[in-house]
Amino acid sequence: KLMTLNEKVGQLNQYNGDWDAAKGPITKDDEKQQQIRDGLVGSLLNIRGLQHTTQLQKEAMKSRLKIPLLFGQDVIHGYFITFPIPLAEAASWDIPAIELAARVAGTEAAAGGIHWTFAPMVDIARDPRWGRIMEGAGEDTYLGSLIAAARVRGFQGKGIGNTDAVMACAKHFAAYGAAVAGRDYNSVSMGLPEFWNVYLPPFKAAADAGAATFMNSFNDLNGIPATGNAYLQREILKRKWNFKGFVVSDWGSVGEMINHGYAKDNYDAALKAITAGSDMDMESRSYKNHLAQLVKDKKVPLALVNDAVKRILKKKFEMGLFDDPYKFSNAAREKAAMKNPAHMQAARDMAKKSIVLLKNENKILPLSKNIKTVAMIGPVVKLVRENLGFWSTEWPDSNSIVSQWEGIKNRLGPDSKLVYAQGCGFTDTSRAGFAEAIAAAEQADVVIMSMGEHRAMSGEAKSRSNIHLPGVQEDLIKAIHATGKPVVVLINAGRPLIFNWTADHVPAIVYTWWLGHQAGNAIADVLFGDYNPSGKLPATFPRTEGQIPIYYNYFNTGRPAQNENDVNYVSAYIDLQNSPKYAFGYGLSYTSFEYSNLKISRTAITKKESIKVSFTLKNTGSMAGEEVAQLYIRDKVGSIVRP
Ligand code: NOJ
Repeated sequence: KLMTLNEKVGQLNQYNGDWDAAKGPITKDDEKQQQIRDGLVGSLLNIRGLQHTTQLQKEAMKSRLKIPLLFGQDVIHGYFITFPIPLAEAASWDIPAIELAARVAGTEAAAGGIHWTFAPMVDIARDPRWGRIMEGAGEDTYLGSLIAAARVRGFQGKGIGNTDAVMACAKHFAAYGAAVAGRDYNSVSMGLPEFWNVYLPPFKAAADAGAATFMNSFNDLNGIPATGNAYLQREILKRKWNFKGFVVSDWGSVGEMINHGYAKDNYDAALKAITAGSDMDMESRSYKNHLAQLVKDKKVPLALVNDAVKRILKKKFEMGLFDDPYKFSNAAREKAAMKNPAHMQAARDMAKKSIVLLKNENKILPLSKNIKTVAMIGPVVKLVRENLGFWSTEWPDSNSIVSQWEGIKNRLGPDSKLVYAQGCGFTDTSRAGFAEAIAAAEQADVVIMSMGEHRAMSGEAKSRSNIHLPGVQEDLIKAIHATGKPVVVLINAGRPLIFNWTADHVPAIVYTWWLGHQAGNAIADVLFGDYNPSGKLPATFPRTEGQIPIYYNYFNTGRPAQNENDVNYVSAYIDLQNSPKYAFGYGLSYTSFEYSNLKISRTAITKKESIKVSFTLKNTGSMAGEEVAQLYIRDKVGSIVRP
């Protein structure tokens, strides 16, 4: 009631912080600073470090009503300490570990003065061309829903308002992962069954777990941009799901409705976004410049603005910021969080659990620590910061990142020798480095090749039409394999890649994704058998791009192929099998498991009853190990077809 219309609109306005992390003035943009003092800014994103969040909060406290700012940030897989990329974590299928990873990130971010993370990203992705597949839990709705809820619980801890918790933000609402042809920001056309059965449940799980906020998305869904989509934001989220938090737009997405051809100008875009239920405008300034006028012109009822403001202020109250705007400004807490050994340990555990063993012929792995000479070859071996993957915050005095070279070197016995050759860069077309790499391999008893995509080849706006191992990397693998030495290939990537020759010829393949600060140690743990890998793929690996979109839970069709060679007027390709190179859920162990004694408690149930399935799982190998038990079911006859 105390607020003017302009102050209300201010709460719906979020700016990017153009503040230099390490030095310099509070703001390079005096006008913005003045707007904060005038109460015309509700939130800022990308403010690094406690000193700056605190300085900016002080500016907000100069405003008439002293409404505190909310500081948001993409804390996607860690804050001070980087954990594996989210897709890698999903490969662990370890829900408590994933929750802990988010808990650590939430604790650290809150200690850095951040109130709000733009995570978890819960978009289902069935298309590895889409670079943002790295940011979510992969292709499966059930696993994705469990992980969505775990991440929300992790970020929000015992509840927002605690000084070790940040608000979660389920994004991108909705169906962003189904961009046509895997091209980022592209349109999405989708029937309602697929939308409700596949793409929405992880969002529902996040909402049910108490996610404080949602972010809408860049794409249009069936012709209506998500930001201006009332069906999504008002009908489903706020009415049907009774969501009480607020919705932030994606970066500039209110204004981008002009490009979509859905809004005439920013005035029209603001009208459409607020009407559809977008509460906060990230960076487009459409609300700031036009919303008050829209109310005056009687195009937007004041009640809509009031509702959006209430939702945002409510979160600021729940965070405790009205009681103490500097609640999250505690230098001792920041310092302690920055170098917390328990956090580093959690990052290492998560990294080990994220690794997927794809191939291990003749039990070439695990390696002995006393091998005489090991050669490490490939573009990733000596890289340091790249191990953090896309969406990571780099700090000038960062905790040290363990490179793969360092991790392996530290693990080898005193009499072992480690030699190195890069061989080629990520996207090189030249073979100039091959000779040196072959010479290194020839001296060695075993060769470890660390290959893959550069970390900036997956992530936002990093769609690829060709997802093969880039450049001449696979030629280098062939050349090293031709030396006759035992070769272990590590593949570092933010998505499923295609590497058929390697898969068919090289005896050992380990998929390492991007593992964060502890990459080198975690990889060494697995390669030398200090940890027995148990990761399973959270996304299907195709044989060629032509199979995409590819996922395990497809419909049977009316003409299912009977086997891999069946092309006789069935749903198949005449030039390729239907099966993927590696299936969803696939992943090896150093030990072997046997399932037996499968029992099903009953053969028929009514709607409210359940069936209990039990079995005996036995480790029949010689090493301790963990197994992810997977059960796939199919409802054989129903009112619509199902996977
Ligand atoms: C755009 C991305 O789509 C979104 O996920 C992110 O949170 C915002 N930029 C803010 O960085």
